[in-house]
Amino acid sequence: MVENDAAAVYVDEDIGADTEQTPGTESAPYKSLQFAYLQKPARSQYLTRKSDGSDESSQWKPATKSAMKKTVNYFEQQKKKQGREKEIAAQRQKEEEERERVFEEAKKITLEEDKSLPKAVKIRLDETDTSVAKLREHDGSGDPGTRVRVFGRVHRQRKQKDVLFVTLRDGYGYLQCVFAGILAKTYDAITLTRETSMEVIGEMYALPPGAHAPNQRELHVDYYEIKPGWKAPGGEDAITNKVQAGGDPQILLDNRHLLLRGDIASSVMFVRDAVEFAFHQTYRELRLRKVSPPALVQTQVEGGATLFKFDYYGEEAFLTQSSQLYLETVLPSMGDVYCIEKSFRAEKSLTRRHLSEYTHIEAELDFITFSDLLDHLELVMCRVIELTLADPVIAAYVKELNPEFKVPERPFKRMKYSDAIDWLKEHNIPNEDGHPHTFGDDIAEAAERRMTDIINRPIFLTHFPVEIKAFYMQKDKDDPRVTESVDCLMPGVGEIVGGSMRMDDWGELMKAYEREGIDSKPYYWYTDQRKYGSSPHGGYGLGLERFLAWMCKQHTVRDTCLYPRYMGRCIP
Ligand code: 4AD
Repeated sequence: MVENDAAAVYVDEDIGADTEQTPGTESAPYKSLQFAYLQKPARSQYLTRKSDGSDESSQWKPATKSAMKKTVNYFEQQKKKQGREKEIAAQRQKEEEERERVFEEAKKITLEEDKSLPKAVKIRLDETDTSVAKLREHDGSGDPGTRVRVFGRVHRQRKQKDVLFVTLRDGYGYLQCVFAGILAKTYDAITLTRETSMEVIGEMYALPPGAHAPNQRELHVDYYEIKPGWKAPGGEDAITNKVQAGGDPQILLDNRHLLLRGDIASSVMFVRDAVEFAFHQTYRELRLRKVSPPALVQTQVEGGATLFKFDYYGEEAFLTQSSQLYLETVLPSMGDVYCIEKSFRAEKSLTRRHLSEYTHIEAELDFITFSDLLDHLELVMCRVIELTLADPVIAAYVKELNPEFKVPERPFKRMKYSDAIDWLKEHNIPNEDGHPHTFGDDIAEAAERRMTDIINRPIFLTHFPVEIKAFYMQKDKDDPRVTESVDCLMPGVGEIVGGSMRMDDWGELMKAYEREGIDSKPYYWYTDQRKYGSSPHGGYGLGLERFLAWMCKQHTVRDTCLYPRYMGRCIP
Protein backbone atom coordinates (compact mmCIF):
# COMPACT_ATOMS: atom_id res chain seq x y z
CA MET A 1 0.00 0.00 0.00
CA VAL A 2 1.37 3.42 -0.95
CA GLU A 3 1.09 5.79 1.97
CA ASN A 4 -0.55 9.08 1.45
CA ASP A 5 1.73 12.02 2.42
CA ALA A 6 -1.35 13.88 3.40
CA ALA A 7 -2.40 11.17 5.81
CA ALA A 8 -2.20 12.27 9.44
CA VAL A 9 0.30 10.62 11.78
CA TYR A 10 -0.98 9.68 15.25
CA VAL A 11 0.96 9.96 18.50
CA ASP A 12 -0.36 8.74 21.85
CA GLU A 13 2.05 9.41 24.68
CA ASP A 14 0.48 6.74 26.85
CA ILE A 15 -0.48 3.75 24.76
CA GLY A 16 1.60 4.45 21.62
CA ALA A 17 4.70 2.44 20.61
CA ASP A 18 7.98 3.78 19.17
CA THR A 19 8.94 0.89 16.93
CA GLU A 20 9.71 0.71 13.25
CA GLN A 21 6.68 -1.57 12.78
CA THR A 22 4.26 0.94 14.30
CA PRO A 23 2.05 2.31 11.46
CA GLY A 24 1.26 5.56 13.33
CA THR A 25 -2.46 5.24 12.61
CA GLU A 26 -5.28 6.20 14.90
CA SER A 27 -5.63 2.60 16.09
CA ALA A 28 -1.85 2.00 16.38
CA PRO A 29 -0.14 5.32 17.18
CA TYR A 30 3.47 6.20 17.93
CA LYS A 31 4.49 7.12 21.48
CA SER A 32 6.62 10.21 20.82
CA LEU A 33 6.38 12.98 18.30
CA GLN A 34 10.13 12.90 17.67
CA PHE A 35 10.07 9.23 16.76
CA ALA A 36 6.96 9.68 14.64
CA TYR A 37 8.65 12.50 12.70
CA LEU A 38 11.81 10.49 12.21
CA GLN A 39 9.75 7.64 10.72
CA LYS A 40 7.32 9.76 8.76
CA PRO A 41 8.74 13.22 8.20
CA ALA A 42 7.01 16.23 6.65
CA ARG A 43 3.44 14.92 6.76
CA SER A 44 0.62 17.37 6.64
CA GLN A 45 -0.61 16.68 10.13
CA TYR A 46 0.62 15.16 13.40
CA LEU A 47 -2.19 14.44 15.84
CA THR A 48 -1.37 13.85 19.46
CA ARG A 49 -3.24 12.94 22.63
CA LYS A 50 -2.85 11.48 26.07
CA SER A 51 -5.27 8.58 26.47
CA ASP A 52 -5.16 8.66 30.27
CA GLY A 53 -7.65 11.50 30.17
CA SER A 54 -5.31 14.25 31.38
CA ASP A 55 -5.36 15.90 27.95
CA GLU A 56 -8.93 17.21 28.18
CA SER A 57 -11.41 14.57 26.96
CA SER A 58 -8.51 12.52 25.31
CA GLN A 59 -9.16 13.99 21.89
CA TRP A 60 -6.67 13.94 18.96
CA LYS A 61 -5.22 17.40 18.56
CA PRO A 62 -2.63 18.77 16.12
CA ALA A 63 0.83 18.97 17.74
CA THR A 64 1.54 22.47 19.02
CA LYS A 65 3.74 24.81 16.97
CA SER A 66 6.52 24.80 19.53
CA ALA A 67 6.44 20.97 19.77
CA MET A 68 6.64 20.77 15.95
CA LYS A 69 9.54 23.25 15.89
CA LYS A 70 11.52 21.23 18.43
CA THR A 71 10.75 18.03 16.57
CA VAL A 72 11.82 19.40 13.20
CA ASN A 73 15.04 20.76 14.74
CA TYR A 74 15.74 17.39 16.26
CA PHE A 75 15.03 15.73 12.92
CA GLU A 76 17.45 18.06 11.12
CA GLN A 77 20.15 17.39 13.70
CA GLN A 78 19.68 13.63 13.35
CA LYS A 79 19.85 13.89 9.58
CA LYS A 80 23.11 15.84 9.81
CA LYS A 81 24.53 13.36 12.30
CA GLN A 82 23.60 10.44 10.09
CA GLY A 83 25.19 12.24 7.18
CA ARG A 84 28.40 12.74 9.12
CA GLU A 85 28.42 9.11 10.29
CA LYS A 86 27.96 7.95 6.73
CA GLU A 87 30.84 10.14 5.64
CA ILE A 88 33.08 8.77 8.36
CA ALA A 89 32.09 5.18 7.54
CA ALA A 90 32.80 5.84 3.87
CA GLN A 91 36.15 7.39 4.79
CA ARG A 92 36.98 4.38 6.97
CA GLN A 93 36.08 1.99 4.26
CA LYS A 94 38.23 3.94 1.82
CA GLU A 95 41.12 3.79 4.24
CA GLU A 96 40.55 0.10 4.83
CA GLU A 97 40.52 -0.51 1.08
CA GLU A 98 43.64 1.61 0.72
CA ARG A 99 45.33 -0.36 3.50
CA GLU A 100 44.30 -3.62 1.87
CA ARG A 101 45.65 -2.31 -1.43
CA VAL A 102 48.95 -1.33 0.25
CA PHE A 103 49.10 -4.74 1.95
CA GLU A 104 48.43 -6.51 -1.35
CA GLU A 105 51.07 -4.40 -3.08
CA ALA A 106 53.47 -5.02 -0.18
CA LYS A 107 52.90 -8.77 -0.36
CA LYS A 108 54.08 -8.70 -3.96
CA ILE A 109 57.48 -7.35 -2.90
CA THR A 110 60.02 -10.08 -2.43
CA LEU A 111 63.51 -9.33 -1.25
CA GLU A 112 66.56 -10.99 -2.60
CA GLU A 113 70.00 -10.83 -1.12
CA ASP A 114 72.54 -9.22 -3.43
CA LYS A 115 75.13 -11.95 -3.78
CA SER A 116 77.67 -9.54 -5.24
CA LEU A 117 77.99 -7.81 -1.86
CA PRO A 118 80.76 -8.90 0.53
CA LYS A 119 79.94 -11.97 2.63
CA ALA A 120 78.24 -10.93 5.87
CA VAL A 121 79.93 -11.75 9.19
CA LYS A 122 77.69 -13.00 11.98
CA ILE A 123 78.09 -10.90 15.13
CA ARG A 124 76.32 -10.42 18.43
CA LEU A 125 74.85 -7.01 19.03
CA ASP A 126 77.38 -5.94 21.68
CA GLU A 127 80.43 -6.61 19.49
CA THR A 128 81.92 -3.18 19.05
CA ASP A 129 85.53 -4.03 18.26
CA THR A 130 86.17 -2.31 14.94
CA SER A 131 88.26 -5.25 13.77
CA VAL A 132 85.00 -7.26 13.89
CA ALA A 133 82.52 -4.54 12.97
CA LYS A 134 84.16 -1.61 11.24
CA LEU A 135 82.04 1.52 10.78
CA ARG A 136 81.71 3.51 7.56
CA GLU A 137 81.48 7.29 7.94
CA HIS A 138 77.88 8.46 8.38
CA ASP A 139 77.94 10.27 5.00
CA GLY A 140 79.12 7.18 3.18
CA SER A 141 82.64 8.50 2.63
CA GLY A 142 85.77 6.58 3.54
CA ASP A 143 86.26 2.82 3.70
CA PRO A 144 83.27 0.51 3.66
CA GLY A 145 81.88 -0.67 6.98
CA THR A 146 81.76 -4.37 7.76
CA ARG A 147 78.79 -6.16 6.26
CA VAL A 148 77.31 -8.05 9.23
CA ARG A 149 74.53 -10.54 9.81
CA VAL A 150 72.65 -10.19 13.11
CA PHE A 151 69.78 -12.00 14.78
CA GLY A 152 67.50 -10.53 17.41
CA ARG A 153 64.06 -9.38 18.40
CA VAL A 154 62.38 -6.04 17.78
CA HIS A 155 62.86 -4.04 20.99
CA ARG A 156 61.62 -0.71 19.62
CA GLN A 157 60.67 0.68 16.24
CA ARG A 158 59.69 3.97 14.72
CA LYS A 159 58.93 5.20 11.24
CA GLN A 160 60.27 8.52 10.02
CA LYS A 161 58.92 9.41 6.59
CA ASP A 162 59.70 6.33 4.51
CA VAL A 163 62.51 5.05 6.72
CA LEU A 164 61.95 2.41 9.37
CA PHE A 165 64.24 2.45 12.42
CA VAL A 166 64.28 -0.79 14.39
CA THR A 167 66.25 -1.34 17.58
CA LEU A 168 67.11 -5.00 17.66
CA ARG A 169 67.87 -6.84 20.94
CA ASP A 170 69.68 -10.15 21.29
CA GLY A 171 70.35 -10.45 25.04
CA TYR A 172 73.89 -9.15 24.53
CA GLY A 173 73.14 -5.69 23.28
CA TYR A 174 71.08 -3.46 21.06
CA LEU A 175 71.59 -2.36 17.48
CA GLN A 176 69.75 0.32 15.51
CA CYS A 177 68.87 -1.02 12.07
CA VAL A 178 67.81 1.35 9.31
CA PHE A 179 65.39 0.04 6.66
CA ALA A 180 65.04 2.39 3.69
CA GLY A 181 63.39 2.29 0.24
CA ILE A 182 61.76 -0.99 -0.74
CA LEU A 183 63.00 -2.63 2.48
CA ALA A 184 60.60 -0.48 4.50
CA LYS A 185 57.67 -1.26 2.20
CA THR A 186 57.42 -5.06 2.39
CA TYR A 187 54.46 -6.68 4.12
CA ASP A 188 56.75 -7.75 6.96
CA ALA A 189 58.05 -4.20 7.38
CA ILE A 190 54.68 -2.47 7.39
CA THR A 191 53.17 -4.98 9.83
CA LEU A 192 56.25 -5.27 12.04
CA THR A 193 55.48 -5.80 15.75
CA ARG A 194 57.57 -5.65 18.91
CA GLU A 195 59.32 -8.92 19.88
CA THR A 196 59.26 -10.26 16.32
CA SER A 197 62.47 -12.18 15.58
CA MET A 198 64.56 -11.06 12.61
CA GLU A 199 67.68 -11.88 10.70
CA VAL A 200 69.16 -8.66 9.40
CA ILE A 201 72.09 -8.05 7.08
CA GLY A 202 73.70 -4.74 6.27
CA GLU A 203 76.67 -2.43 6.47
CA MET A 204 77.83 -0.87 9.72
CA TYR A 205 77.78 2.93 9.80
CA ALA A 206 78.80 5.58 12.31
CA LEU A 207 75.91 7.73 13.46
CA PRO A 208 75.47 11.23 12.08
CA PRO A 209 76.53 13.91 14.60
CA GLY A 210 73.79 14.73 17.11
CA ALA A 211 72.02 11.38 16.60
CA HIS A 212 71.73 8.82 19.40
CA ALA A 213 71.67 5.04 19.19
CA PRO A 214 73.35 2.20 21.11
CA ASN A 215 77.14 2.25 20.68
CA GLN A 216 76.81 5.29 18.39
CA ARG A 217 76.34 3.14 15.31
CA GLU A 218 73.65 1.82 13.02
CA LEU A 219 73.18 -0.91 10.48
CA HIS A 220 72.19 0.17 6.98
CA VAL A 221 70.14 -2.86 6.07
CA ASP A 222 70.42 -4.40 2.59
CA TYR A 223 68.53 -7.64 3.29
CA TYR A 224 66.46 -9.20 6.04
CA GLU A 225 64.26 -12.16 6.77
CA ILE A 226 61.44 -12.92 9.18
CA LYS A 227 61.11 -16.69 9.02
CA PRO A 228 57.73 -18.45 9.45
CA GLY A 229 56.73 -18.44 13.12
CA TRP A 230 59.04 -15.53 14.00
CA LYS A 231 56.32 -12.86 14.06
CA ALA A 232 54.98 -11.64 17.41
CA PRO A 233 51.32 -10.73 17.72
CA GLY A 234 50.11 -7.14 17.51
CA GLY A 235 46.78 -5.66 18.61
CA GLU A 236 45.18 -7.01 21.78
CA ASP A 237 47.71 -9.79 22.15
CA ALA A 238 50.73 -7.47 21.72
CA ILE A 239 53.36 -7.77 24.44
CA THR A 240 52.78 -4.14 25.40
CA ASN A 241 49.20 -5.02 26.35
CA LYS A 242 50.28 -8.01 28.43
CA VAL A 243 52.98 -6.33 30.51
CA GLN A 244 52.51 -2.67 31.24
CA ALA A 245 54.72 -0.62 33.55
CA GLY A 246 52.87 -0.07 36.83
CA GLY A 247 50.38 -2.85 36.00
CA ASP A 248 48.72 -5.14 38.55
CA PRO A 249 51.62 -7.03 40.27
CA GLN A 250 49.81 -10.39 40.06
CA ILE A 251 49.22 -10.00 36.31
CA LEU A 252 52.85 -9.00 35.87
CA LEU A 253 53.92 -12.12 37.81
CA ASP A 254 51.64 -14.32 35.67
CA ASN A 255 53.43 -12.82 32.68
CA ARG A 256 56.91 -12.84 34.18
CA HIS A 257 58.15 -14.82 31.15
CA LEU A 258 57.35 -11.73 29.06
CA LEU A 259 58.28 -9.17 31.71
CA LEU A 260 61.80 -10.63 31.79
CA ARG A 261 62.28 -9.17 28.29
CA GLY A 262 61.90 -5.66 29.67
CA ASP A 263 64.73 -3.30 30.60
CA ILE A 264 64.44 -3.42 34.41
CA ALA A 265 63.79 -7.13 34.88
CA SER A 266 66.55 -8.08 32.46
CA SER A 267 69.06 -5.64 34.06
CA VAL A 268 68.43 -7.25 37.46
CA MET A 269 69.00 -10.68 35.92
CA PHE A 270 72.25 -9.52 34.32
CA VAL A 271 73.44 -8.19 37.68
CA ARG A 272 72.38 -11.45 39.29
CA ASP A 273 74.45 -13.46 36.81
CA ALA A 274 77.48 -11.23 37.48
CA VAL A 275 77.06 -11.36 41.28
CA GLU A 276 76.77 -15.15 41.31
CA PHE A 277 79.91 -15.41 39.20
CA ALA A 278 81.69 -12.93 41.51
CA PHE A 279 80.88 -15.14 44.51
CA HIS A 280 82.47 -18.10 42.73
CA GLN A 281 85.50 -16.01 41.86
CA THR A 282 85.84 -14.57 45.38
CA TYR A 283 85.64 -18.02 46.96
CA ARG A 284 88.19 -19.28 44.48
CA GLU A 285 90.51 -16.41 45.44
CA LEU A 286 90.04 -17.32 49.12
CA ARG A 287 90.63 -21.01 48.30
CA LEU A 288 87.22 -22.29 49.33
CA ARG A 289 86.13 -25.45 47.54
CA LYS A 290 82.69 -25.76 45.96
CA VAL A 291 80.49 -28.69 46.86
CA SER A 292 76.92 -29.59 46.04
CA PRO A 293 74.96 -31.02 48.98
CA PRO A 294 71.60 -32.80 48.54
CA ALA A 295 68.27 -30.99 48.46
CA LEU A 296 66.24 -33.99 49.65
CA VAL A 297 66.98 -34.51 53.33
CA GLN A 298 65.64 -35.97 56.56
CA THR A 299 67.03 -33.37 58.96
CA GLN A 300 65.93 -29.83 59.76
CA VAL A 301 68.33 -26.93 60.24
CA GLU A 302 66.26 -23.85 60.99
CA GLY A 303 63.24 -25.16 62.89
CA GLY A 304 60.26 -27.32 61.97
CA ALA A 305 57.84 -24.49 61.21
CA THR A 306 59.16 -23.84 57.71
CA LEU A 307 59.83 -27.41 56.55
CA PHE A 308 58.41 -28.62 53.24
CA LYS A 309 57.62 -32.26 53.92
CA PHE A 310 57.12 -34.92 51.29
CA ASP A 311 56.80 -38.65 50.88
CA TYR A 312 60.15 -40.19 50.03
CA TYR A 313 59.44 -43.80 49.03
CA GLY A 314 57.20 -44.16 52.08
CA GLU A 315 59.46 -42.25 54.46
CA GLU A 316 59.07 -38.67 55.62
CA ALA A 317 61.62 -36.33 54.02
CA PHE A 318 62.07 -32.57 53.59
CA LEU A 319 63.30 -30.10 51.02
CA THR A 320 66.48 -28.69 52.51
CA GLN A 321 66.31 -25.46 54.52
CA SER A 322 70.07 -24.99 54.39
CA SER A 323 73.11 -26.97 53.28
CA GLN A 324 75.05 -25.93 56.35
CA LEU A 325 75.10 -29.29 58.15
CA TYR A 326 76.43 -31.00 55.02
CA LEU A 327 79.07 -28.32 54.49
CA GLU A 328 80.31 -28.95 58.02
CA THR A 329 80.83 -32.62 57.19
CA VAL A 330 83.36 -31.93 54.45
CA LEU A 331 85.61 -29.51 56.37
CA PRO A 332 87.90 -32.37 57.47
CA SER A 333 88.41 -33.59 53.90
CA MET A 334 88.19 -30.46 51.76
CA GLY A 335 89.12 -27.56 54.02
CA ASP A 336 86.95 -24.46 53.72
CA VAL A 337 83.94 -25.05 51.50
CA TYR A 338 80.98 -23.26 49.97
CA CYS A 339 77.90 -24.01 47.92
CA ILE A 340 75.35 -22.06 45.92
CA GLU A 341 72.20 -24.15 46.06
CA LYS A 342 68.48 -23.74 46.47
CA SER A 343 67.02 -23.68 50.00
CA PHE A 344 63.32 -24.14 50.68
CA ARG A 345 61.20 -22.55 53.36
CA ALA A 346 57.47 -23.12 53.79
CA GLU A 347 57.00 -19.50 54.82
CA LYS A 348 53.35 -18.86 55.54
CA SER A 349 53.79 -15.08 55.42
CA LEU A 350 53.74 -12.95 52.31
CA THR A 351 56.47 -10.44 53.06
CA ARG A 352 58.61 -8.69 50.51
CA ARG A 353 61.73 -10.55 51.61
CA HIS A 354 60.49 -14.14 51.93
CA LEU A 355 60.42 -16.76 49.20
CA SER A 356 59.55 -20.45 49.42
CA GLU A 357 62.53 -21.31 47.23
CA TYR A 358 65.64 -19.12 47.23
CA THR A 359 69.27 -19.24 46.24
CA HIS A 360 71.40 -19.75 49.31
CA ILE A 361 75.08 -18.90 49.25
CA GLU A 362 76.62 -20.77 52.14
CA ALA A 363 80.20 -21.18 53.35
CA GLU A 364 81.86 -23.03 56.21
CA LEU A 365 85.31 -22.26 57.55
CA ASP A 366 87.49 -24.53 59.70
CA PHE A 367 89.70 -23.62 62.66
CA ILE A 368 88.53 -20.01 63.00
CA THR A 369 87.36 -17.63 65.69
CA PHE A 370 84.09 -15.66 65.65
CA SER A 371 86.08 -12.54 64.80
CA ASP A 372 87.67 -14.36 61.81
CA LEU A 373 84.16 -15.21 60.62
CA LEU A 374 83.04 -11.57 60.68
CA ASP A 375 86.22 -10.41 58.88
CA HIS A 376 85.75 -13.05 56.22
CA LEU A 377 82.10 -12.10 55.67
CA GLU A 378 82.96 -8.44 55.24
CA LEU A 379 85.73 -9.28 52.84
CA VAL A 380 83.56 -11.61 50.75
CA MET A 381 80.71 -9.12 50.40
CA CYS A 382 82.98 -6.19 49.49
CA ARG A 383 85.05 -8.25 47.08
CA VAL A 384 81.92 -9.54 45.35
CA ILE A 385 80.67 -5.99 44.87
CA GLU A 386 84.08 -4.83 43.67
CA LEU A 387 84.29 -7.65 41.10
CA THR A 388 80.72 -7.08 39.96
CA LEU A 389 81.23 -3.37 39.43
CA ALA A 390 84.55 -3.95 37.65
CA ASP A 391 82.53 -4.95 34.58
CA PRO A 392 81.48 -1.62 33.04
CA VAL A 393 78.34 -3.08 31.47
CA ILE A 394 77.15 -4.47 34.82
CA ALA A 395 78.23 -1.30 36.65
CA ALA A 396 76.01 0.66 34.25
CA TYR A 397 73.03 -1.57 35.05
CA VAL A 398 73.60 -1.11 38.81
CA LYS A 399 73.92 2.65 38.32
CA GLU A 400 70.64 2.71 36.43
CA LEU A 401 68.83 0.60 39.04
CA ASN A 402 70.43 2.10 42.14
CA PRO A 403 72.25 5.36 41.37
CA GLU A 404 73.49 5.87 44.95
CA PHE A 405 74.96 2.41 45.34
CA LYS A 406 78.62 2.15 46.33
CA VAL A 407 80.91 -0.43 47.93
CA PRO A 408 80.17 -0.24 51.68
CA GLU A 409 82.81 1.16 54.00
CA ARG A 410 84.76 -1.32 56.05
CA PRO A 411 84.70 -2.28 58.83
CA PHE A 412 80.92 -2.73 59.01
CA LYS A 413 79.26 -1.44 62.15
CA ARG A 414 79.30 -4.19 64.78
CA MET A 415 76.51 -4.15 67.32
CA LYS A 416 75.64 -6.68 69.99
CA TYR A 417 72.05 -7.90 70.21
CA SER A 418 71.80 -6.49 73.76
CA ASP A 419 72.90 -3.05 72.49
CA ALA A 420 70.33 -3.27 69.68
CA ILE A 421 67.62 -3.91 72.29
CA ASP A 422 68.76 -0.75 74.14
CA TRP A 423 68.86 1.19 70.87
CA LEU A 424 65.29 0.11 69.99
CA LYS A 425 64.09 1.13 73.47
CA GLU A 426 65.79 4.53 73.20
CA HIS A 427 64.24 5.09 69.77
CA ASN A 428 60.76 4.05 70.96
CA ILE A 429 60.53 1.26 68.41
CA PRO A 430 58.22 -1.33 70.04
CA ASN A 431 58.30 -5.12 69.76
CA GLU A 432 55.64 -7.16 67.95
CA ASP A 433 53.25 -6.89 70.93
CA GLY A 434 53.59 -3.12 70.97
CA HIS A 435 55.71 -3.14 74.15
CA PRO A 436 59.24 -1.80 74.60
CA HIS A 437 61.83 -4.41 73.52
CA THR A 438 63.38 -6.55 76.26
CA PHE A 439 66.32 -8.95 76.22
CA GLY A 440 65.14 -12.26 74.74
CA ASP A 441 62.76 -10.71 72.17
CA ASP A 442 63.12 -11.87 68.59
CA ILE A 443 63.64 -8.54 66.83
CA ALA A 444 60.82 -8.53 64.29
CA GLU A 445 61.24 -7.67 60.61
CA ALA A 446 59.69 -4.20 60.86
CA ALA A 447 61.76 -3.10 63.89
CA GLU A 448 64.92 -4.54 62.36
CA ARG A 449 64.34 -2.68 59.13
CA ARG A 450 63.59 0.60 60.84
CA MET A 451 66.78 0.36 62.86
CA THR A 452 68.84 -0.51 59.79
CA ASP A 453 67.30 2.29 57.75
CA ILE A 454 67.96 4.86 60.49
CA ILE A 455 71.57 3.73 61.01
CA ASN A 456 71.78 3.55 57.19
CA ARG A 457 74.89 1.40 56.82
CA PRO A 458 75.61 -2.33 56.93
CA ILE A 459 75.42 -3.72 60.47
CA PHE A 460 76.76 -6.94 61.93
CA LEU A 461 74.26 -7.69 64.67
CA THR A 462 75.89 -10.27 66.96
CA HIS A 463 75.48 -12.38 70.09
CA PHE A 464 71.81 -13.34 69.94
CA PRO A 465 70.29 -15.15 72.94
CA VAL A 466 70.45 -18.96 72.85
CA GLU A 467 66.65 -19.31 72.97
CA ILE A 468 65.94 -17.45 69.74
CA LYS A 469 68.63 -19.11 67.63
CA ALA A 470 69.12 -22.55 66.06
CA PHE A 471 70.28 -25.57 68.09
CA TYR A 472 73.75 -25.78 66.52
CA MET A 473 75.10 -22.35 67.54
CA GLN A 474 78.16 -22.08 69.77
CA LYS A 475 77.59 -20.29 73.08
CA ASP A 476 79.72 -17.29 73.96
CA LYS A 477 82.38 -18.40 76.46
CA ASP A 478 82.06 -15.10 78.37
CA ASP A 479 78.26 -14.95 78.42
CA PRO A 480 76.56 -18.34 77.98
CA ARG A 481 73.14 -16.60 77.65
CA VAL A 482 74.15 -15.68 74.11
CA THR A 483 75.57 -17.35 71.02
CA GLU A 484 78.47 -16.47 68.74
CA SER A 485 76.00 -15.57 66.03
CA VAL A 486 75.68 -12.82 63.44
CA ASP A 487 73.02 -11.35 61.21
CA CYS A 488 74.21 -8.90 58.57
CA LEU A 489 71.60 -6.15 58.13
CA MET A 490 71.46 -3.90 55.06
CA PRO A 491 69.54 -0.64 54.64
CA GLY A 492 66.30 -1.10 52.71
CA VAL A 493 66.20 -4.87 53.10
CA GLY A 494 67.24 -5.89 56.61
CA GLU A 495 68.84 -9.28 57.22
CA ILE A 496 70.71 -10.69 54.27
CA VAL A 497 73.12 -13.02 56.07
CA GLY A 498 72.75 -15.34 59.04
CA GLY A 499 75.81 -17.07 60.45
CA SER A 500 77.48 -18.39 63.56
CA MET A 501 80.23 -20.41 65.15
CA ARG A 502 79.06 -24.03 65.49
CA MET A 503 78.84 -26.01 68.68
CA ASP A 504 81.91 -28.25 68.50
CA ASP A 505 81.53 -30.22 71.74
CA TRP A 506 79.78 -33.60 71.41
CA GLY A 507 78.11 -33.50 74.83
CA GLU A 508 76.90 -29.95 74.43
CA LEU A 509 75.39 -30.74 71.02
CA MET A 510 73.53 -33.74 72.46
CA LYS A 511 72.09 -31.43 75.12
CA ALA A 512 71.09 -28.90 72.46
CA TYR A 513 69.12 -31.56 70.52
CA GLU A 514 67.33 -32.40 73.74
CA ARG A 515 66.62 -28.75 74.59
CA GLU A 516 65.06 -28.23 71.15
CA GLY A 517 63.14 -31.52 71.24
CA ILE A 518 65.04 -32.84 68.21
CA ASP A 519 65.54 -36.59 67.82
CA SER A 520 69.33 -36.94 67.50
CA LYS A 521 69.18 -40.24 65.56
CA PRO A 522 68.81 -38.87 62.02
CA TYR A 523 71.64 -36.41 62.85
CA TYR A 524 74.21 -39.16 63.59
CA TRP A 525 76.36 -38.08 60.65
CA TYR A 526 76.34 -34.47 61.86
CA THR A 527 77.08 -35.42 65.46
CA ASP A 528 79.98 -37.62 64.31
CA GLN A 529 81.87 -34.48 63.29
CA ARG A 530 82.30 -33.84 67.03
CA LYS A 531 83.56 -37.40 67.54
CA TYR A 532 86.07 -37.80 64.72
CA GLY A 533 88.31 -34.78 65.26
CA SER A 534 86.24 -31.77 66.24
CA SER A 535 87.31 -28.19 65.51
CA PRO A 536 86.29 -24.59 66.16
CA HIS A 537 84.43 -23.74 62.96
CA GLY A 538 81.71 -21.50 61.71
CA GLY A 539 79.87 -20.37 58.64
CA TYR A 540 76.96 -18.46 57.23
CA GLY A 541 74.21 -18.35 54.68
CA LEU A 542 73.53 -15.36 52.44
CA GLY A 543 70.26 -15.00 50.56
CA LEU A 544 71.17 -14.06 46.99
CA GLU A 545 67.76 -12.53 46.30
CA ARG A 546 68.03 -10.26 49.35
CA PHE A 547 71.60 -9.29 48.48
CA LEU A 548 70.36 -8.29 45.02
CA ALA A 549 67.33 -6.45 46.39
CA TRP A 550 69.79 -4.34 48.39
CA MET A 551 72.27 -3.85 45.55
CA CYS A 552 69.68 -3.21 42.80
CA LYS A 553 67.28 -1.28 45.06
CA GLN A 554 64.38 -3.61 44.35
CA HIS A 555 61.37 -3.42 46.64
CA THR A 556 60.94 -7.18 46.84
CA VAL A 557 62.94 -10.39 46.45
CA ARG A 558 60.23 -11.48 44.02
CA ASP A 559 61.87 -9.19 41.49
CA THR A 560 65.40 -10.48 42.01
CA CYS A 561 64.85 -14.13 41.06
CA LEU A 562 63.83 -15.57 37.72
CA TYR A 563 60.46 -17.07 38.67
CA PRO A 564 59.55 -16.39 42.31
CA ARG A 565 58.00 -19.08 44.47
CA TYR A 566 56.03 -17.97 47.50
CA MET A 567 52.82 -19.03 49.24
CA GLY A 568 50.18 -19.18 46.52
CA ARG A 569 52.51 -19.02 43.52
CA CYS A 570 54.24 -21.86 41.75
CA ILE A 571 53.77 -20.62 38.17
CA PRO A 572 55.18 -19.81 35.62
O1 4AD B 1 69.28 -17.08 58.76
P1 4AD B 1 69.06 -18.31 57.98
O2 4AD B 1 67.82 -19.08 58.20
O3 4AD B 1 70.33 -19.19 58.25
C1 4AD B 1 70.54 -20.45 57.83
O4 4AD B 1 69.81 -21.12 57.12
C2 4AD B 1 71.89 -20.99 58.19
N1 4AD B 1 71.80 -22.43 58.36
C3 4AD B 1 72.84 -20.62 57.10
C4 4AD B 1 74.26 -21.03 57.39
O5 4AD B 1 74.78 -20.66 58.41
N2 4AD B 1 74.85 -21.77 56.47
O6 4AD B 1 69.12 -17.97 56.45
C5 4AD B 1 70.26 -17.36 55.92
C6 4AD B 1 69.88 -16.32 54.91
C7 4AD B 1 69.08 -15.18 55.47
O7 4AD B 1 69.90 -14.21 56.06
C8 4AD B 1 68.39 -14.65 54.25
O8 4AD B 1 69.24 -13.82 53.51
C9 4AD B 1 68.14 -15.91 53.47
O9 4AD B 1 69.05 -16.88 53.92
N3 4AD B 1 66.78 -16.37 53.68
C10 4AD B 1 65.76 -16.19 52.82
N4 4AD B 1 65.70 -15.53 51.64
C11 4AD B 1 64.52 -15.52 50.99
N5 4AD B 1 63.41 -16.12 51.44
C12 4AD B 1 63.42 -16.77 52.62
N6 4AD B 1 62.31 -17.38 53.04
C13 4AD B 1 64.63 -16.82 53.36
N7 4AD B 1 65.00 -17.36 54.53
C14 4AD B 1 66.30 -17.10 54.71
